[in-house]
Amino acid sequence: MERERAVGNSESVRCRLSSCLLGRRPAGPMKIRLKNIFVIYFIVSVIGLLYALMQLGQPCDCSHHLKSTSELIHAKDKKISQLQNELKRLEAVGKAERQHIATVTLPTIYAITPTYSRLVQKAELLRLSQTFLHVKNFHWIVVEDSATTTRLVADLLTQSGLKFTHLNMETPQDYKLKQNDPNWLKPRGVEQRNLGLQWLRENRELSEEGVVYFADDDNTYSLQVFEEMRFTQRVSVWPVGLVGGLRFERPLVEKGKVVGFYTAWKPNRPFPMDMAGFAVALQLLLANREAKFDLLVERGYLESSLLQSLVSIEELEPKADNCTKVLVWHTRTEKPKMKQEELLQKQGLGSDINIDV
Ligand SMILES: *[C@@H]1O[C@H](CO)[C@@H](O)[C@H](O)[C@H]1NC(C)=O
Repeated sequence: MERERAVGNSESVRCRLSSCLLGRRPAGPMKIRLKNIFVIYFIVSVIGLLYALMQLGQPCDCSHHLKSTSELIHAKDKKISQLQNELKRLEAVGKAERQHIATVTLPTIYAITPTYSRLVQKAELLRLSQTFLHVKNFHWIVVEDSATTTRLVADLLTQSGLKFTHLNMETPQDYKLKQNDPNWLKPRGVEQRNLGLQWLRENRELSEEGVVYFADDDNTYSLQVFEEMRFTQRVSVWPVGLVGGLRFERPLVEKGKVVGFYTAWKPNRPFPMDMAGFAVALQLLLANREAKFDLLVERGYLESSLLQSLVSIEELEPKADNCTKVLVWHTRTEKPKMKQEELLQKQGLGSDINIDV
């Protein structure tokens, strides 16, 4: 019974094996041989495979090992590319950070601009603000010649996107230009510039690096002039175009030092320069708290009245390639004619005063 069952079992195994190989139920004597052939074939194949693997120096089943190796390489590649991306990201962050640090450590340029109400005021200030937007670390100090700050200027400053300080100071009546006075009769913007200086003295520390420039609202400025002045030690100077009845005025420079001035008008002034042709280190102004523009000086001597107490000619720092480049122009905006407007106003038909111009 035991044996028969075993035979029956092996027979059914054989049956399955042989039917795989031959597709039919085999005859009795064929059973043993087929099994032997199969076993031998199997053994030879395994030996052959092992031999082949040993020839490769891989005495094991290497297909798994190879697969995991390539997976490992793939994973490492992925990791490397992740690290490379991370490195790139950190480099970008580092660059932005360095630029940020470079910007915040860049000395601030304070431009003091006196301004007064007139038809072209908004246009002038807007043009100026849009130039200043291109200057890094810039602070605009706008001082109105008026009893109060005006909405027009306040709105313009708020909308400018610039860092600014808005002040006002009305010029005493005695010193004001009358309607038909020629504009050179009395110096303009004196009290306003002085108020700007006072604000700096009250709001800035001696330790702060900066430079102060008196930027009138009708001039034309190359962006380059701001970078020329940025690292001023005491007082830096450069040419000004279209001024003093000349194509330009300029400091004369020899061996890197200012030795005189090219100017035609009152050449004997201590500092025969236009307001647009120099900038003063913030620290120098903070350390010399009494230095200011003198309201009472003779025409043309305004610049000298400030500079005399701060610097000597030899100490001036020539900029703009030893004062051979014109980077600022003393342009003047023509006063617009309002003949038609005035006629219409007389008829009560003047333009809408709620619209700013
Ligand atoms: C200015 O002049 C000095 C002396 O002649 C010279 O050494 C220097 O290179 C000049 N600077 C520029 C920017 O031209």
